[in-house]
Amino acid sequence: MSKVVVFDHPLIQHKLSIMRDKNTGCKEFRELLDEISMLMVYEVTRDLQTKEIEVETPICVTKTKALAGKPIGIIPILRAGLGMVDGILNLIPNAKVGHIGLYRDPATLNPVEYYCKLPEDAEHRELIVLDPMLATGGSASAAIGFIKARGCNNIRLVNLIAAPEGIARIQKDHPDVDVYVAALDDHLNDHGYIVPGLGDAGDRLFGTK
Ligand code: PRP
Ligand code: URA
Repeated sequence: MSKVVVFDHPLIQHKLSIMRDKNTGCKEFRELLDEISMLMVYEVTRDLQTKEIEVETPICVTKTKALAGKPIGIIPILRAGLGMVDGILNLIPNAKVGHIGLYRDPATLNPVEYYCKLPEDAEHRELIVLDPMLATGGSASAAIGFIKARGCNNIRLVNLIAAPEGIARIQKDHPDVDVYVAALDDHLNDHGYIVPGLGDAGDRLFGTK
């Protein structure tokens, strides 16, 4: 069964509260998502492998640590996942970025794929899939399925807000994928929106509504 990590850090919770407020505008929403993503990835990557290296400081030669193991790939689910990319690249500037385009059919709530471009060596990378919202889990589950179908196995999922339904779906479909969220909300409404949530993340991020 996959692990679910809920971030209770006061800075993350404070910033998320501002994002939830319906009066928060597009610019501030975007900046906050950027900041929270950067704070979250710090914990998401806590178990990355390191190796001992030798460095000569101005004082002496010493043994210290550097990242080892698989390089990182980050894969935002379009559109809203794009809002999490820059914050993560601030901390992991050498990460390669793949994109998966999915939208949720408003009538059926089923995900429809319209784009997929992954790094060439994606199967040799530690992959972090990004989407601010995990509602029914249909989009994230499908995206992870598409990534696995291309031979990739080391996948973690990072969401800003998840509904219990979405968590259950990922745990059922992808028990090998750990999920990291800033908040686990109460439930989904009849339109598949997370309650209390923050509304439509893509629209709030890009100002399309
Ligand atoms: C939103 C969100 C997720 C999906 C979550 O995207 O960014 O991708 O819905 O819902 P689910 O867990 O029920 O699948 P949307 O389909 O609205 O597309 P957008 O990012 O282009 O706005
Ligand atoms: N997608 C969103 O952007 N928000 C929700 O609450 C659910 C799906």
